[in-house]
Amino acid sequence: MNKIAVIGAGSVYTPELVTEFFKDGGKLVPFDEMALMDIDRGRLAAVGGLTQRMARRQGVRGEISLTTSLTEAIRGAKFVIVQIRVGGNRARALDETIPYRYGVIGQETTGPGGMFKALRTIPAVVEIAKTVKRVAPRAWILNFTNPSGLVTEAVLKAVPGVKMLGICSAQLGREWWVARALGVKRERIKVRSAGLNHLAWVYRVSVDGRDVTDRLFNLPDRRLKHLGWPVDLMRSIRMVPIGYLWYYYYSDKMLPHSRPGHNRAKRVMEIERILMKRYADPALDEPPKELSLRGGSGYSLAMSTVMNALTGRKPCTIPMNVQNRGAVEGFARDQVLEIDSTLRPAGVTPVAIPLRDLPPHLLGLTHQVKAYETLTAEAAMTGCYHTALEAMITHPLVPNATVGQRILDEMLKAHRKYLPKFR
Ligand code: G6P
Repeated sequence: MNKIAVIGAGSVYTPELVTEFFKDGGKLVPFDEMALMDIDRGRLAAVGGLTQRMARRQGVRGEISLTTSLTEAIRGAKFVIVQIRVGGNRARALDETIPYRYGVIGQETTGPGGMFKALRTIPAVVEIAKTVKRVAPRAWILNFTNPSGLVTEAVLKAVPGVKMLGICSAQLGREWWVARALGVKRERIKVRSAGLNHLAWVYRVSVDGRDVTDRLFNLPDRRLKHLGWPVDLMRSIRMVPIGYLWYYYYSDKMLPHSRPGHNRAKRVMEIERILMKRYADPALDEPPKELSLRGGSGYSLAMSTVMNALTGRKPCTIPMNVQNRGAVEGFARDQVLEIDSTLRPAGVTPVAIPLRDLPPHLLGLTHQVKAYETLTAEAAMTGCYHTALEAMITHPLVPNATVGQRILDEMLKAHRKYLPKFR
């Protein structure tokens, strides 16, 4: 019996998540049952209803069941996909707008906003992981819940013995970006990247097995620009950062995106209103075009690639959020990094990276943000104010302890309802 559980299936992302699973009548990633679980009955009915219609339309043989019971969803599952949002988008709006008032980036996955998303999320995902350990101990937990790497680190420490991977689609196009700049076919390109979730860089590029990293950064400006970053920045760090690094390198330019009335959370809430109306239409049996207004594209591809590797259909090596286990010297074995990892039925192995391969710029920023993440993971489980303050003032986007403490205090108050450990 191949059962997949989706926790937080009332998310508007779900119709995208299942696209690869439903292709060719469900032959690409075979399953007997997909249990869609959510605590919100209304959302589950609307999103689940559309998902069932999509499956019918595509002749999918596996059953799509709906439930509000976590245990029922997880029992018998081989894979448990977690995509929850504790506090919903209202909480996200606070994550984005409170730091902004102090001149600090407000973002749902990084900086103080990401920290509070983690503090709210970790205890909930730990409960899910404990349920998996109890009722489906051999299942893989595939975590999409942001901040994906941080949440994965906290859960693996809190619930030893569970199998969990932190997944993200942000690096999916990495070979394409580079192929376009170099003007060679994507199939000839191999890249190596390292860092953390939403803080990663491509640091090595090869074509047909030959290292062309120097050639890449010596390309004329007009070609290098294809990579989407100012050329002087790339030539200085000699790496290609993923998009989320804009919040670090150009926080000045990114700051206005968090201003009240213009922040992403507000836009997302508007898009969700449109989407939920569309999903409730009984005549709709495919993802509506408005879904492309949300992020999360590529989740289905990322998830199906991971499952097909773990079941042995197509083992692969791709960037994953996994425990370091000695792959990169200087990080603890149980700290989670986003690094190339080999996925096979026997398990997941991070590919070791010799320290000399990693530029100091990457190591410096990764160490600092990792320290913030590890402290946040600890604070989420203990509810310790001082650990939370230490985490906040360790984050490179927080300018000083005065501002850090003010943001912390205001956010602890604003999110009180979802932070029982801090009461
Ligand atoms: C991308 C990122 C995800 C993030 C999403 C946000 O897909 O890889 O980690 O959750 O964007 O999209 P949203 O529509 O919620 O702003």
